[in-house]
Amino acid sequence: MKILIVGGNGTIGKKVSGHIGQNHEVVIAGRSSGDVTVDMADSGSIEAMFKTVGPVDAIVAIAGEAKWAPFDQMSEEDFYIGLKSKLMGQVNLVRIGQAFLTPGGSFTLTTGILADDPVDMTTSAAMVNGALHSFAKAVALELKDGQRINVVSPGLVEDAVEIYADYFPGHNPILMPKVINGYVKSILGKGGQVIRMYDNS
Ligand SMILES: NC(=O)c1ccc[n+]([C@@H]2O[C@H](COP(=O)([O-])OP(=O)(O)OC[C@H]3O[C@@H](n4cnc5c(N)ncnc54)[C@H](OP(=O)(O)O)[C@@H]3O)[C@@H](O)[C@H]2O)c1
Repeated sequence: MKILIVGGNGTIGKKVSGHIGQNHEVVIAGRSSGDVTVDMADSGSIEAMFKTVGPVDAIVAIAGEAKWAPFDQMSEEDFYIGLKSKLMGQVNLVRIGQAFLTPGGSFTLTTGILADDPVDMTTSAAMVNGALHSFAKAVALELKDGQRINVVSPGLVEDAVEIYADYFPGHNPILMPKVINGYVKSILGKGGQVIRMYDNS
């Protein structure tokens, strides 16, 4: 399969693309690195990326930002960062990408545990993640030609612990092989799911 991974050089993305690349042709897209560059916050840039890459059998998004700040310091503009990047960036990857995804192909979006178990300073990130879960359930009803969509929602991942552990007190990190398997399940398995990878034990 030819698989496009937006954010395929990121902390999670490089582990996923390394694993998937063992058996498939992987095309990595990123804002500043990769086989092709794209700014997912700009739908014109997404269209240009798909025209360059052409038809693919799976489209995976492991990218998208949202502003983290105390709610009483969040401006309206601050919320638009997450709405434009992580939310509409991934919605537009599906909206534009459906014409470039082969019949039976899969979309995989990425959200995160904040949708279900938010921590301080994440009103924007949590909201965007929850919206993406609802978007995926709804668009799964309308995708054509057997196209599938899933969302992978990881907890704090093992490889990001050093950066984010202080923001997630008491959260158990999700080991990278488990994170990778969530993406494999999404790409190769059935659609319409939010694949939650949390460790609340
Ligand atoms: N890390 C975690 O523990 C964790 C847990 C749950 C969910 N998530 C979510 O998973 C996603 C990836 O997280 P990560 O930790 O792997 O992030 P990361 O290390 O910052 O990597 C993000 C990747 O996405 C690309 N990217 C960022 N903004 C982009 C844009 N506007 N257009 C195109 N590409 C863009 C970056 O490319 P450039 O470097 O070229 O800019 C980079 O390759 C994020 O949405 C995050 O919220 C992360």
